Amino acid sequence: MFDPETYAKTNDLVAQDAAKFIPRMIKEMKWTQGDKVLDFGCGAGNVGYNYILPQVEKWDGTLCSLDISSKMLEYAKKTYPHPRIKYICADIFAGDDQNNDEILFNFNNIISNYVFHQIREIRKLLLRLHSILLPGGSMGFIFLTNKNWYFQALQRLGQMDKWKPYFEGYEHIVADWTVYNGKINGEEKFKGLMQDCGFTVKILEIVERTFFYEDIEVVLDLWSSVNIFLHRLSEKMQNELREDNRKLITEFAGVSLHSKSLLMEYEIVYGVVDKPLNL
Ligand SMILES: C[S@@+](CC[C@H](N)C(=O)[O-])C[C@H]1O[C@@H](n2cnc3c(N)ncnc32)[C@H](O)[C@@H]1O
Repeated sequence: MFDPETYAKTNDLVAQDAAKFIPRMIKEMKWTQGDKVLDFGCGAGNVGYNYILPQVEKWDGTLCSLDISSKMLEYAKKTYPHPRIKYICADIFAGDDQNNDEILFNFNNIISNYVFHQIREIRKLLLRLHSILLPGGSMGFIFLTNKNWYFQALQRLGQMDKWKPYFEGYEHIVADWTVYNGKINGEEKFKGLMQDCGFTVKILEIVERTFFYEDIEVVLDLWSSVNIFLHRLSEKMQNELREDNRKLITEFAGVSLHSKSLLMEYEIVYGVVDKPLNL
């Protein structure tokens, strides 16, 4: 995620899901006075500020917004400063010696919107989150399954002779643990993953979603802003990539190549899990 300004301007889809699911998530999580909350992978900071902070204020708590990307963090700090929010630039996997700041432990609640699918070692991540969550605490999350057009486009481009040399390592972006067969099996698979890592599953659903892009250029901008290979391409090639992405996205949507708008179909996993008191 290299371009926070573009990401912030074009992530209405993520904001739409946050507006719909985070208030529900908050109701399904446990809250107590003075709660210490982690927004894991806070990105541009808008979701934490708009949807998590009001709940944190209600319970007189604090919010720790963490992201590995210094650019994202800088943007979030500058755009959404607040006395109750502490912004931290760190990798969630960084060893305790590097994160010796004790604020990175003992959270009452963890919320993570649109991050888990970026992590290949999901069990390692879940065990890490489990270890920094207090017993009796809860964690709410939304992540993408592999059934989304950005991942599908990346897979198609990564196999094309033209893009292969530049997209080396693209397979590692699409976390293979997000693949599943059939909704019921998928929900069981993701529930099992949570249980294996010590959580009690309160709710976990695969939800089909759509998002209407009035202007197709917005989604093409978004895809550029999140493409980690972009810096390897000349300006001319970046424009060619945009046009190849246009071909793919209009094909997925079943509209003409010259269409100005499209209805995007995708899927998310929505869940709330608890860390049992007796562990
Ligand atoms: C798609 S963005 C979502 C941002 C935000 N939660 C939102 O809802 O808009 C995913 C974020 O997770 C962050 N991230 C990915 N891996 C991470 C890690 N290992 N540690 C901390 N942050 C990470 C990325 O830098 C990126 O900003």
